[in-house]
Amino acid sequence: MNKGKELKTKFFSAKNDIHHLPENDRYLYAPDKPQYKFNVIGAGMIGQEHIAVTMLEGRATVHGVYDPQPLSIEQAKKVFSNCSSGEDLMVYQSLQEACNDPEVDGLIICTPNYTHLDVVKEAIPSGKHILLEKPMATTLQDADEIRQLIKHYEAVFQIGLQYRYKAIYVEAFHEAFERKSIGDIKTISILEHRLPFLDKVKQWNKFSKYSGGTFVEKCCHYFDLFNLFAQAKPQAVYSTGSMAVNFLNFEYQDEKADMIDNAFVTIIYENGIRANFNLCMFAPMFYEEIILCGDEGHLKAFENEDFLPASKAKTHLEVRCGEKMPSRITTPSYPTLIEESGHNGSTYIEHVHFIDNIEGAQTNTSQAEEGFWSIVVGVAAEESLKTGKIVQIHDLLKNLG
Ligand SMILES: NC(=O)c1ccc[n+]([C@@H]2O[C@H](COP(=O)([O-])OP(=O)(O)OC[C@H]3O[C@@H](n4cnc5c(N)ncnc54)[C@H](O)[C@@H]3O)[C@@H](O)[C@H]2O)c1
Repeated sequence: MNKGKELKTKFFSAKNDIHHLPENDRYLYAPDKPQYKFNVIGAGMIGQEHIAVTMLEGRATVHGVYDPQPLSIEQAKKVFSNCSSGEDLMVYQSLQEACNDPEVDGLIICTPNYTHLDVVKEAIPSGKHILLEKPMATTLQDADEIRQLIKHYEAVFQIGLQYRYKAIYVEAFHEAFERKSIGDIKTISILEHRLPFLDKVKQWNKFSKYSGGTFVEKCCHYFDLFNLFAQAKPQAVYSTGSMAVNFLNFEYQDEKADMIDNAFVTIIYENGIRANFNLCMFAPMFYEEIILCGDEGHLKAFENEDFLPASKAKTHLEVRCGEKMPSRITTPSYPTLIEESGHNGSTYIEHVHFIDNIEGAQTNTSQAEEGFWSIVVGVAAEESLKTGKIVQIHDLLKNLG
């Protein structure tokens, strides 16, 4: 049954509690037939989000999962059964089997950061479409190795830097580059104030050697945004920060946590744009903000989840255009169903683009190159923090040739 374009809404297809309608009587509620099958490798927090979002998006289904931790598998099965119509979820016994099942078109890699290179090496010979979670790797060398490995890869190779699809950033990008509301961008500021790093399986995100450090693990999202809005390569990076509050006494298997929880980073771009990042991970909320200063206007946008009862917009975007264009204040958002599926809807849009990419469309997803450059800034910030010096990107990259 070919449905009309006007009927393509998740309001209908996501409803899996309409049990009284026989199959033949379903028109609006008839699910689209998925055309692709994905395997999810690593079924922890974000792996489960990818399962739910794949099913919500609807053009693909999840065929199977691989994860050595039984609790993650158990939970992944629950998530899958809540959003599917009773199909079985294949559970693979090895990474190799999960990567090479001929039934499957794509692999979504959601394992801890330090495993990404090894998992990618196993996945690439399959030739399948790959969505690799951020950060691409924990070191510049590993990120570069992945970049080289996929240089001639014919299938899609996408990096999970999906913050660029948060509604505030999509709209900010549109204002800055499509409507040209603020003229030429001169400075970019991003601020993230939030709760500490969440618990993870084997607590890999408390240790720089497994995560790459705070700048690589968490801030790669924002460094990707800086790179995107600057539309240029970073030239120099200076950072300062410390472990001031979180996990000061945290030990896991006799190792002490070493992830910083506050920082300021300055980035100078080759085109003269200056950027500034402010991180605090001991704030009782999730708040992020971007300010773009252009030579003809000013844009500020934020996203806020502060757990307080007062009713206020979760997002805000203001564009002040001086006297030549109307200024405006908006609250960018996606439909609630999509926002609630994870990361304020950005993971959903990432999936839409993953499948669009598979179908040959041109999208602005982060690929290996964008993933690599987000890590360049992250590694430069880690190095500047250690040495107290400005890191010239040219020098940092010299060793990679
Ligand atoms: N894009 C985003 O916004 C976002 C959000 C959260 C996490 N992430 C990234 O996703 C990845 C996973 O993070 P998480 O929060 O889900 O962590 P998690 O600890 O909740 O889950 C990781 C899972 O991977 C499994 N695993 C470990 N080694 C494995 C291997 N070799 N093969 C298969 N499974 C393996 C673990 O058992 C665990 O179930 C990390 O790279 C993280 O940085 C991205």
